[in-house]
Amino acid sequence: MDSTLTTAWRSPSNIAIVKYWGKHGHQLPANPSLSITLTHAFTETHLAATPAGNGKHAEIAFLFDGREAPAFAERIRQYFGKIAGHVTFVKDFHLSIASSNTFPHSSGIASSASAMSALALCLADLQCMIDGHPRDARFWQIASELARIGSGSGCRSVYGPVSLWGETSLVQGSSDTHAIPVSNIHPVFETLCDSILIVDAAAKAVSSSAGHALMEGHPYRNARIAQVQSHLQHLLPAMQQGDIETFGKIAEAEALSLHALMMTSDPSYILMRPHTVAVIEDIRAFRTRTDFPVYFTLDAGPNVHVLYPRQYATQVQEWIQSSLISYCVEGRVIHDHAGNGPVRLPS
Ligand code: PMV
Repeated sequence: MDSTLTTAWRSPSNIAIVKYWGKHGHQLPANPSLSITLTHAFTETHLAATPAGNGKHAEIAFLFDGREAPAFAERIRQYFGKIAGHVTFVKDFHLSIASSNTFPHSSGIASSASAMSALALCLADLQCMIDGHPRDARFWQIASELARIGSGSGCRSVYGPVSLWGETSLVQGSSDTHAIPVSNIHPVFETLCDSILIVDAAAKAVSSSAGHALMEGHPYRNARIAQVQSHLQHLLPAMQQGDIETFGKIAEAEALSLHALMMTSDPSYILMRPHTVAVIEDIRAFRTRTDFPVYFTLDAGPNVHVLYPRQYATQVQEWIQSSLISYCVEGRVIHDHAGNGPVRLPS
């Protein structure tokens, strides 16, 4: 009898509205963060686990888009080193992992959140199969925790449409070790659109890990933590009441704060590009002209996420196509929207 266990998960990327920036200890956040889970930008991961046999050295094989990917394989091996104490069963199995993304990993969209959450879900699922446990709340929590160890922001992708990571007195049950779903979200945010404008697809000059590290001893660190507290305090009720204006104001302030922190690090650096600024200014001018609730956010890179309620999708996407497309590399835009989070696939 074939004793191979198989599982497969699709997990989406997410976009932070309140940004995680700075960490300590074992990938614990300097501040709480809140994100919207996306739909179309996802990773699919298939995992097959075959018992290695007594005393045999368990091996890990990794394919990306059906091909060997040595750089990713190395990252995954390091990841397994970090989670060894959490998933002790892993040492007894040969693992065969195959992943693919809906978006090119060099497109400028962070793929680590979707990739690490998809893999974490496969591992948590495997643990359930071995232990004979159901996929209950504990399963999702373990998946989120395992994802966090691979990619901090990835722990939020486990839940949709809105997820919170990091302990805060504002939300009961919040934790630094895993994300939780945010409940009672107004429908306007459950279907919020996010058009991602790829204004530069080159690899970032400074990685997120290096950026997080520069928050240690940052002159604005305490002010940043206080700002997050105030933003969350206003954002949470706004997202429950459907107050898009407050939401948009905070989303933009968070994006600009994140980049201001980079510009005031030591050494300082700039990830925005001239087209990033041009798009931001056009979005603000369009909002003033039309009164449409269209806002922007940025992650740790030059690309712009355009956020708007679904009811404006036709007009906003037409405007992007006619006015903003010239700022994008090869006219690249990914029209995504909020979604319900990961899906288990037939394996
Ligand atoms: O998860 P990391 O280490 O890639 O850091 C992500 C940081 C931001 O994308 C800038 C903010 C966030 O909360 O996702």
